[in-house]
Amino acid sequence: MFRVQVIHGPNLNMLGLREPGIYGSQTLATIEAMLAEQSGLLGADLAFFQSNSEGALVDCIQACYGRQDGILINPGAYTHTSVAIRDAIAAVGLPTVEVHLSNIHKRESFRHHSYIAAVAVGQICGFGPDSYRLGLHGLVQHLKSLRQGLGDA
Ligand code: DQA
Repeated sequence: MFRVQVIHGPNLNMLGLREPGIYGSQTLATIEAMLAEQSGLLGADLAFFQSNSEGALVDCIQACYGRQDGILINPGAYTHTSVAIRDAIAAVGLPTVEVHLSNIHKRESFRHHSYIAAVAVGQICGFGPDSYRLGLHGLVQHLKSLRQGLGDA
């Protein structure tokens, strides 16, 4: 069993209402229900957290230390601004996958840079809610290889 903390940053609680042309019509609750279903297939135990506050996101990442095996995060707009979130991920040292609904590289230039990417195992963007599913699969696969490397898979 792999323990994964799923973290959603600012404005992702508005999914469904928020710029549906970019982010689609699915709500965060629907995305979390889809991930919960996937977790059963993958042997993952998911915890969910959303906040609009940078500090609360940092607190959540710090609390993962010793409690979670990996982190799946959509940092929202903090992707492009937050050294604090990047440092928190580096501090806990947990495998982290960064996901975005939209393809940030195809959008405004201020969205092209991610402070998180350099401390993440990888980044998935542009597939709408499926980015989360793909990200979860990638993260669990990565955690499996790490465990196999340690010889206790
Ligand atoms: C986002 C992309 C960010 O640039 C934006 O600020 C968001 C959502 C995405 O999922 O596509 O809030 O992370």
